[in-house]
Amino acid sequence: MSKVYTITSGKGGVGKTTAAANLGVCLGQLGKKTLVIDADLAMGGIATILGLSETYVTLHEALGGKVSAEKAIYSAHGIDVLPSGPSIGGFLGADPNKLGSIVEKLVKGYDYILIDAPPGLNKYSLAPIKVADEILLIVTPDPPAIEAAAKLHTVAEVMDAKIGGVVVNRARKSSFLGRLRGSKLMKNAEIEGKLKAQILGTIEEDPAVIESTNLKKPVIVYKPKSPASKALRGLAAKLTL
Ligand SMILES: Nc1ncnc2c1ncn2[C@@H]1O[C@H](COP(=O)(O)OP(=O)(O)OP(=O)(O)O)[C@@H](O)[C@H]1O
Ligand SMILES: [Mg+2]
Repeated sequence: MSKVYTITSGKGGVGKTTAAANLGVCLGQLGKKTLVIDADLAMGGIATILGLSETYVTLHEALGGKVSAEKAIYSAHGIDVLPSGPSIGGFLGADPNKLGSIVEKLVKGYDYILIDAPPGLNKYSLAPIKVADEILLIVTPDPPAIEAAAKLHTVAEVMDAKIGGVVVNRARKSSFLGRLRGSKLMKNAEIEGKLKAQILGTIEEDPAVIESTNLKKPVIVYKPKSPASKALRGLAAKLTL
């Protein structure tokens, strides 16, 4: 049976796109037919992270009713990708509320669809939540990210969305210097308490992720043995259970 996960966060920059792209590639490596959809219509970055450069027809055109979504699907690293486009005109012409009918049409062809959501709490971030079977809440272990995720979680519950779990990204040990600078790292139990949801997995702060982003490759392909890649593989395996 197919399953649709939306990867969302509330706060920006916490690792949604990294997680969506890499979990997608991991699921592909596990032999699952997988589609990653870039629903960050304004600032989408899935195509870049997966090394796709010539994506002339995109989700923008599909959501604008100009082409069928199938025409905007590309392949990369063993999975299918439905990227967003780079142009402001395309973004303005795209109706996020059409995402549901696109997913409904495509879902039969896949074991897994992962949707990368934009940050914030608005029609663009809520549309991908509406179409998901389950949402994965990505957070970094700091109070602003947890507060934003808690807000989004409350809204998601009102929308009857099912929470598949929390993913703690960029996890690291609290350092003396960091504490002196006033940074506060939250512990897993505290995060679960604030979010009223279980942590499904933890991905460490890992320089290989930043290197891979700069090289336009998923870390799982660039450095498959790095700590982040191991965590992402473990997380993908959990999604298949
Ligand atoms: N585990 C990690 N270790 C180190 N760097 C990371 C890790 N995860 C993500 N990053 C880096 O953090 C930055 C933001 O990641 P990403 O683009 O995936 O976040 P996002 O939540 O999709 O952001 P946005 O809300 O803007 O869409 C990138 O430069 C990425 O390389
Ligand atoms: Mg992103």
